[in-house]
Amino acid sequence: ATMSNEAELIHMFKGIPFTTRSSPELLKSLDTFDAREDDVLLVSYPKSGTHWLAGVITKLYDTQVTLTSPIEFGDVSRLEELNKLSSKRIIPTHLDYNMLPENFKNKKCKMIYLCRNPKDTAVSMYHYYRDNPNLPTVETWTAFFDLFLKGEVVCGSWFDHFLSWEEHENDKNILFLFYEDMKKDLHKIVSEISLFLGLSVSDNDIQDICKKSSFSEMKSDTEKENSDPSHTVCALTSNRKLIFRKGAVGDWKNHFTPKQNRRFEEIFNEKMKLSKM
Ligand code: A3P
Repeated sequence: ATMSNEAELIHMFKGIPFTTRSSPELLKSLDTFDAREDDVLLVSYPKSGTHWLAGVITKLYDTQVTLTSPIEFGDVSRLEELNKLSSKRIIPTHLDYNMLPENFKNKKCKMIYLCRNPKDTAVSMYHYYRDNPNLPTVETWTAFFDLFLKGEVVCGSWFDHFLSWEEHENDKNILFLFYEDMKKDLHKIVSEISLFLGLSVSDNDIQDICKKSSFSEMKSDTEKENSDPSHTVCALTSNRKLIFRKGAVGDWKNHFTPKQNRRFEEIFNEKMKLSKM
């Protein structure tokens, strides 16, 4: 695989590829981040459904909350901006557990980890690479497939990301969610989230939130508004129109060859030996 423009778009930090939208200075300063007890972190590997979950969560509150830009987005001055916010903060991030600022861990902030079948995540990320000018050029699905399995993509290896968080699955302040469960029964997951966040939301309101959070509603809302940079919760783009592609479970079946599927499963089984997944 050749990625012609990779050198300008990607830099490595602690062994993980980041885009230049996350400055090295910011990444180095993350540990000085001032976490607050009532911050809620929204954690995911890219393309796991972060915008969907963010949409749901912000609708659950009837008090003022701010959905911030991701902590790893921008340059050092962003830390000050996040500091200045007076309302409760919902903070998205694609960082793996080890890179998460210690303050969030010490203050036992509530964190929601969203996970998606890595096969669908890979396919979604492939399309994102193709459409997103902030990411290196990738010529073919086959080339991307190899990079994904090697962890040579933004945010590094899906396996390492998941495993770093799974270790903390039983921490009381962390809720694990799956994209596929949201697709199957959003109402049930929204109730779970509401309970975890200590909110009391009526069944009627939950129903309404689910309706407003459907793929088609969210996609058309996005097409109507002008893309506002503060509206993406992914450090890899400020163009919300790149987010709503297909929103389906199992699209990998339209991309993986039988041989790729065998190889993926081999590597999955090897890497996830110690995982409960
Ligand atoms: P696809 O590329 O498979 O369509 P993220 O928000 O983490 O960048 O993830 C983007 C993925 O979530 C995309 O997957 C997108 O279509 C899907 N998605 C966004 N909103 C959704 C919704 N309301 N329902 C289902 N899937 C949604």
